[in-house]
Amino acid sequence: MTPVLLDCDPGHDDAVALLYAVRHMDLRAITTVYGNQTLEHTTRNALSLCRLAQLDTPVAAGASRPLVAPHITGGAVHGKTGLDGAELPEPDRAPLDMHAVELILRTAREHRGELVLAATGALTNVALALALEPKLKEWLRGITIMGGGTGTGNVTEVAEFNIYCDPEAAEMVLRAGVPTWLVGLDVTRRVGVSAADIATLRVGGKLANTMADLLDFFRASLERVQGVATASLHDPCALVPFIDPSLMEYRHTNVRVELAPGIARGMTVAELRRLGNVPLGHMRGSAPANVYLAREPSPKLVGHILQAILDVDAKLN
Ligand code: BDR
Ligand code: CA
Repeated sequence: MTPVLLDCDPGHDDAVALLYAVRHMDLRAITTVYGNQTLEHTTRNALSLCRLAQLDTPVAAGASRPLVAPHITGGAVHGKTGLDGAELPEPDRAPLDMHAVELILRTAREHRGELVLAATGALTNVALALALEPKLKEWLRGITIMGGGTGTGNVTEVAEFNIYCDPEAAEMVLRAGVPTWLVGLDVTRRVGVSAADIATLRVGGKLANTMADLLDFFRASLERVQGVATASLHDPCALVPFIDPSLMEYRHTNVRVELAPGIARGMTVAELRRLGNVPLGHMRGSAPANVYLAREPSPKLVGHILQAILDVDAKLN
């Protein structure tokens, strides 16, 4: 199984990503970042989820704020704790006595050429790790990110939350030269669970029912705040290329982050044109491809993700 480190800000959909990784990948480490709530909450949530799923995976806390951007949180969607809506167990351990960046570097060194770094929160920890250790980009098999999008944003008209939280970090990561997969809102919003989908988890035990409670909360929140009827399973989508590539189509292309202050700050700008091999005249040519950009999710993906939750649950009961 592919070794993976999950850098996350749990977060309801981060919690789903964590279980999806447990089911289909070799989850070596979890690092946390501010985002859906403060770092204190997201770290506590990661540890609670580990207890719920009986995982001894190492957890280290990372950045508590962006590199230069002002600090925002996703409390309007994810609630006061970042994981409102369910009774979660108290953590039964503390995070490691090391920074997330150290754990990223240690894990990547141990699994040289094999480790996938999956980022489902702001990219601050990942950018710091790449800046601190230039060899990291050779050690990683790839970075896969939930972030950005090519349509409507969810923080501003055009910017998605994870990228908007720390646009400078996101741009550093996209420019780092590591093979990178990016799945944005235009795709993840098509991987949404309805109340009826969520109810299918109720046949399971404690873990599956807790996830159903969380997803019910998340769905209601997204409907209230963003007017969408289904709960988008944003974060597990980032793992798809290393779990089952047939569940998502990608295009190898150029994506950059708008950093200038103003209405487009934090937007991801993707090359989606198909330029012919002719003189371009007034048109700007394409910049070199730097990411595999998700384009099309399989209709089977929702079922695959929910089944993973039930599978992990069944192993505990
Ligand atoms: C992303 O923002 C967070 O609120 C979610 O956990 C997801 O990572 C979606 O824009
Ligand atoms: Ca997240």
